[in-house]
Amino acid sequence: MSLLDDARAVRENAYAPYSNFAVGAALKTPDGSVFKGINVENVAYPEGTCAEAGAIAAMCASGAREIVEIAVIADAPAPVPPCGGCRQKIAEFAGPDVVVTMGTTDGAVLEMTVSELLPGRFTADHMERT
Ligand code: THU
Repeated sequence: MSLLDDARAVRENAYAPYSNFAVGAALKTPDGSVFKGINVENVAYPEGTCAEAGAIAAMCASGAREIVEIAVIADAPAPVPPCGGCRQKIAEFAGPDVVVTMGTTDGAVLEMTVSELLPGRFTADHMERT
């Protein structure tokens, strides 16, 4: 089962009654563990939280801190790229060469690296003066 298949399966549990746009995400850590996430919306904040953020939260809650692969899927005309905030969240735990696989429920697939999605990312180095 590919990571995109995991994302496809968990997407069934997305809670998106306001946008009706269900998203699933799955990521892998160095030991092969897979963590999944969905978007979750609510009436006060109908934009909700992204599936990628959910998968990252699940990873962190387990104590893991490194993403070696991540996939996201939605029912869209073209593969949906992670939002800006999620790009930074992914980059916090994934190296620049980690592959982000974006898929549609129709079977379209697009692969990009973290550095392609977030060139010039903000890092802790930017806070160092010396
Ligand atoms: N969404 C995600 O979960 N991931 C993305 O990469 C793009 C957007 C969700 C947030 C919201 O619940 C819905 O899609 C519409 O923006």
